[in-house]
Amino acid sequence: NDDQFKKVISHAKEYGYVFQSSEIYDGLSAVYDYAQNGAELKKNIRDYWWKAMVQMHDNIVGIDASIFMHPTTWKASGHVDAFNDPLIDNKDSKKRYRADVLIEDYCAKIEAKIDKEVAKAQKRFGDSFNKEEFISTNPRVVGYYERIQEILSRMGKSLEAEDLADVKALIEELEIACPLSGSREWTEVKQFNLMFGTKIGASAEHALDLYLRPETAQGIFVNFLNVQKTGRMKIPFGIAQTGKAFRNEIVARQFIFRMREFEQMEMQYFIKPGTQMKWFEYWKEARMKWHMSLGMGAENYRFHDHDKLAHYADAATDIEFKFPFGFKELEGIHSRTDFDLKQHEEFSGKKLQYFDHEDNASYTPYVLETSIGLDRMFLAVFSNSLVEEELENNTTRTVLKLPAVLAPVKAAILPLVKKDGLPEVARQIFDDLKWDFNVTYDEKDAVGRRYRRQDANGTPFCITVDHDTLDDQMVTIRHRDTMEQSRVNISDLTAIIKKEVDV
Ligand code: GAP
Repeated sequence: NDDQFKKVISHAKEYGYVFQSSEIYDGLSAVYDYAQNGAELKKNIRDYWWKAMVQMHDNIVGIDASIFMHPTTWKASGHVDAFNDPLIDNKDSKKRYRADVLIEDYCAKIEAKIDKEVAKAQKRFGDSFNKEEFISTNPRVVGYYERIQEILSRMGKSLEAEDLADVKALIEELEIACPLSGSREWTEVKQFNLMFGTKIGASAEHALDLYLRPETAQGIFVNFLNVQKTGRMKIPFGIAQTGKAFRNEIVARQFIFRMREFEQMEMQYFIKPGTQMKWFEYWKEARMKWHMSLGMGAENYRFHDHDKLAHYADAATDIEFKFPFGFKELEGIHSRTDFDLKQHEEFSGKKLQYFDHEDNASYTPYVLETSIGLDRMFLAVFSNSLVEEELENNTTRTVLKLPAVLAPVKAAILPLVKKDGLPEVARQIFDDLKWDFNVTYDEKDAVGRRYRRQDANGTPFCITVDHDTLDDQMVTIRHRDTMEQSRVNISDLTAIIKKEVDV
């Protein structure tokens, strides 16, 4: 809900996770900077993905391709012609909208209206009166629902000219049925390409027009044969990559959910044609298992299979996550056939084929893709972890229950007081632990306040040095989630922390 989401955004700022980019100049919309803790969390998520995808699979290797690519890449991939968002302007308010998002907003408003009506009817007729009944007994509502669903499922996938008129007509109807913008004069729906253009080269005449890559995947496709040959890879094999991608998103909202500059973690799995359904199922399951391994609650994930497919795909599903604003796409798993490699063969004039020794034949491999937004994963982890807890003594505490493996700081070392030699011992523990973990030292304020600060920062362990430590070489270790404390030997600290934070 809205309040929870606002808390997430302000907590991310207050605790040094995410700042708006160029804030002193009033920011840049849909562009964000990761701060001291955010950069660590982001790195830990990236490493966790890399380990699962590359290190744990002996047939998957990682690359790091450039953001700049030859401009023909984007002709071949279809992005120049078809990577568009449908836009519509309101002539009265002079506001610009993404048509599909606008329709979603109308849907949400209609839903809210229906819910209100249902609640009213339930008051009169009792609980047995439900939403489905309401919708099915109201022909006008049924009509809208069906049309909205049908148009939404077509949106974003290179709408044809006649569809665009249909979209405009729907928006006009919806505005009358359920006013949102307050004005009714709309322009035609136009396609707007999402790629950022730039130039390479010193002089204007010789400059080459380039795009900033809108997905990392193409850097993998164009390197397919180089990697296969130099790595002596045998099909099936995968190439993984993490890196920045850029899209000129029109609707800039929902914090780091939809950004103009973001990071993707993608893997293309090259397979024998005809085996794509087997591998589609395999990667669906494997990726869901990866999400489950973080322990963020199975109820917060679901698959959303696509009925209407992009022109290059023969199967596609999203892993959706329950963000504070509802279930939304977190990761995509796409069976991309041989579309991309064939396109690059055609546009480059080079063969991108694999010789299969078992079959004694060459073919253009099929590709199974897993693609997740690193920033979106960050938002999923961060928003899911932030909780306000009621404590027994009627107080509350704010805790960021990050999975320990992802937490930016693994332990805080705290001398109980700033004297009597305790800081020196605490410093020594800090100096020993820092070789294995990202740790912090804090001696300011009462220890209770320091615990709260670390709770809100997501630090899984606090280690307190007190006067007894000087005699028995033992410290108090406090667990963030349970707040349980126990006395342990300093020499056991590394093993205790490792047990929780290692994958
Ligand atoms: N190569 C396939 C591809 O790029 P996509 O569905 O367009 O597919 C994949 O993007 C993932 O990248 C999404 O599931 C999402 O997590 C992330 N993503 C896409 N656009 C984004 C944006 N504007 N901001 C943040 N993450 C984004």
